[in-house]
Amino acid sequence: MDLKSKVVMITGAGGPMGKAIAKRFYEEDAKLVLTDISENRLLQTIDMLTDENGSNKNIFYLRSDVLNKKEIKEVVNKAIGIYKKIDILVNIVGGIRAKKMDQPILEMENERWDQTMDLNLKGGINCIKLIAPQMIESESGKIINISSINFAGEPGYADYGAAKAAVASFTKTAAMELGPYINVNCIAPAVIQTSVLDRMDKETLDYYRDRTLLKRLGKPEDVANTALFLASNQSDYITGEIIAVSGGVSPHL
Ligand SMILES: NC(=O)c1ccc[n+]([C@@H]2O[C@H](COP(=O)([O-])OP(=O)(O)OC[C@H]3O[C@@H](n4cnc5c(N)ncnc54)[C@H](O)[C@@H]3O)[C@@H](O)[C@H]2O)c1
Repeated sequence: MDLKSKVVMITGAGGPMGKAIAKRFYEEDAKLVLTDISENRLLQTIDMLTDENGSNKNIFYLRSDVLNKKEIKEVVNKAIGIYKKIDILVNIVGGIRAKKMDQPILEMENERWDQTMDLNLKGGINCIKLIAPQMIESESGKIINISSINFAGEPGYADYGAAKAAVASFTKTAAMELGPYINVNCIAPAVIQTSVLDRMDKETLDYYRDRTLLKRLGKPEDVANTALFLASNQSDYITGEIIAVSGGVSPHL
């Protein structure tokens, strides 16, 4: 890949997917800007990237809440102060904050709706508004959002599915508005082997595995490899797309 001189900002870099994506870009000698709301998780990612000599060059990290405009602005300003630019933005923050993963619509409180929409959509928008102007000025940039195949609908996940459909729609509009210099795409994973597995029973996991054509759950590395492709010049003619990383669930949707 061609990422040696590229600066990549990754939000939610302390989560399992964030970790795998940070690792994959680091292996390609990209310069990293990493942020997460959890200082502890962020430090675990830094630890993973640090070699046995204690070296982790070309990594800038700072804790922030992507929903807090002041905090994320500080990350972006400091990163641009160091690297002079951000070439690639990977918006990973998202998910379901509620304790109970699945909840029927008739029992779903408005508070959960608001929380899920904010977490999945607004943090990414905050980052794009701060970083895209500089990408336009330098006439190049790649933005990768994370949706989910749940955007097509999934019983028990009305809030999450709607939020991820919003991410997919936002991706398309952003590609239209920010072209021709910025490519904006999103990845729509199926169930990936992350901490969500701890929140599902065996029967549910068997169902999700069996409905893939490849008969396995996804790995964070499957998403990381796709993010790398979308960030590289190998995907220069791809924008406004929703790329499923689903082991073949998507043909059924
Ligand atoms: N895991 C899956 O099966 C799966 C499937 C499809 C899509 N996705 C999506 O992939 C993305 C990553 O998934 P994951 O399983 O690694 O999630 P995760 O919740 O384990 O990790 C997300 C990271 O984001 C951080 N974070 C949460 N709120 C934040 C905020 N306001 N500001 C900054 N950081 C914040 C968390 O501390 C965590 O480290 C999410 O958008 C999720 O919806 C996940």
